[in-house]
Order: sequence, then C-alpha cells, then structure tokens
Amino acid sequence: MPAFQLLGNHEIATLVEYTKYLSMRGEIERGLCIEAEIDFTQSLLDEELSHAKSAQQKKEVQKEFQEEIQDFLKSDFPEIVQEISLSVAESWIKADDPENVLMPTVKQTNPLGPSQANPDVSSLANGKMLYLSTSAQCVSCHGKTGKGDGDQTTQFQKRPDGTKYEKVGLHDTWGLPVTPRDLTYGVFCGGREPIDLFRRISAGVKGTPMPAFGGKGLNDEQIWDLVNYIYYLGGEYPNAKP
Ligand code: HEC
Repeated sequence: MPAFQLLGNHEIATLVEYTKYLSMRGEIERGLCIEAEIDFTQSLLDEELSHAKSAQQKKEVQKEFQEEIQDFLKSDFPEIVQEISLSVAESWIKADDPENVLMPTVKQTNPLGPSQANPDVSSLANGKMLYLSTSAQCVSCHGKTGKGDGDQTTQFQKRPDGTKYEKVGLHDTWGLPVTPRDLTYGVFCGGREPIDLFRRISAGVKGTPMPAFGGKGLNDEQIWDLVNYIYYLGGEYPNAKP
C-alpha cells in the first residue's frame, strides 16, 4: 500500500468516504445473502428435488421454488433491505461519534521510568513480563523475540465451526491465512504513533485473530507498558535492558 502524498486532503477525504461506502455495501449485501439463505439454498432445493418421483414432478418443484423466490423478492425483501441498511448505517454513524473513539484513561508511561501498573519495575521491564506472560499469550502468536513466529503459526487451527483449516497457522474472518505482525520491524498497519499501538492492543484488529485486550485482562497502565516494549522490540531504546 503506497503513500499518496500528491493527493490533497480533500481528495483523500473523498477516498475515505468511498472506501466506507464500499464496506457498507458489502456489509448490506452479506446481510441480504444470509437472509436469503435461510429459505433458499441449493441444498434445500436438492432436498425437495430428491422427493420428486418423475421428471415432470421435478420440473414442478423447480418452478415452485422459483416462484417462492419471486414472491420473497416482491413481498419481504424491500423491508429486509431497509432494515439491514439502517442497522449498518447506524453502526457507522456510531463509529464516527467522537465519544466512541477509544481514549486511554492514563497518559503514556515514560518507557525508561517506572511502570504505572507495577511501580517497582521499569515500564519496559513490566511490558516484557506481560508480553512473555501466559495470561496475555502474545508469545503464542508473535513469538518470543517478536518475529511473528509463535507456536500458533506452525499449528493447525480450528475454524469457528470446529473443523480444522487445511493449512497451518492463523486465518482471518474470511478464512485466508494471516501472519502475526513481525514486531521487530517497527512497521504497523494502523500507524506507529503510541496511541495507534495502544488502540490496536486495547481493541484488537477486527477481522483478524489479533485479540482485544482492553477491558478484559489488561488495564490501560499495563497496555502502555506493552506499547513501550513493542518499540523496544522494534529497536528503540537500544541501551535498555528490560
Ligand atoms: C491469537 C494470536 C495473537 C495474539 C495472542 C496476539 N496477537 Fe497481535 N497480532 C496478531 C495478528 C494475526 C496480527 C496482524 C493483524 C493484521 O493482519 O492486521 C497482529 C498484530 C499486532 C500488532 C500490529 C498492529 C498494526 O497496526 O499493525 C501489534 C502491535 C500486536 N499485534 C501486539 C500484540 C500484543 C502486545 C499481544 C499480547 C498482549 C498480541 N499482539 C497478541 C495475532 C495475535
């Protein structure tokens, strides 16, 4: 994904809006597919066809099925479109509300100063401890040194329905392979400002296995220690010994 520095702010803003529009359209279409799938799947048709005894009966079953789809499109469908569109629009409007932007309750801790979560040790040392802890599990995905090579990347993982993926490693919501970020590069998708990393750890990365740690498990003071430690893994504070 290149940088588009030649575009003006206004042009970038219109691209942002259009990208959001594409997402909304996709969400609505997916919602409609799910609704239509309740009554009209190929397997349902196949099931009905299997009971038909003659070619003539099969034809009739097929015709009836088509008519039912036509009826559905005329009667219930417009209302369902409206319902789904409204709920998708509402969630995007909510996301734009400044009140819903995730803000830390405490200021970033000085990486070389004491941890706000555990003042007996430095922020980097506490970040390291949390990173390596069995409760946070960062290591199981990102690996001990942060290279993105944790155990979960070499094991077979389960789909939400309990069956196993054919390939080893993690997968995103769309079933595609995804690798935990290599934290030693110091390059991040959601920006590399401390607040960006704070938000990624607190809220997770939706659509990927990167979990949300805020609210459950880690408090904001601990998340700042992790943010500091991630910068350390990326080569900052080379003289520190956490
Ligand atoms: C279940 C596996 C898993 C666990 C556990 C996990 N991560 Fe991740 N993490 C990922 C994946 C996968 C990505 C890449 C997401 C993507 O494709 O954008 C990621 C991305 C990240 C990023 C990069 C975000 C960006 O903007 O590029 C950071 C920082 C990060 N994780 C930190 C952590 C920390 C700190 C912990 C522990 C508190 C942790 N992760 C635990 C899987 C995991």
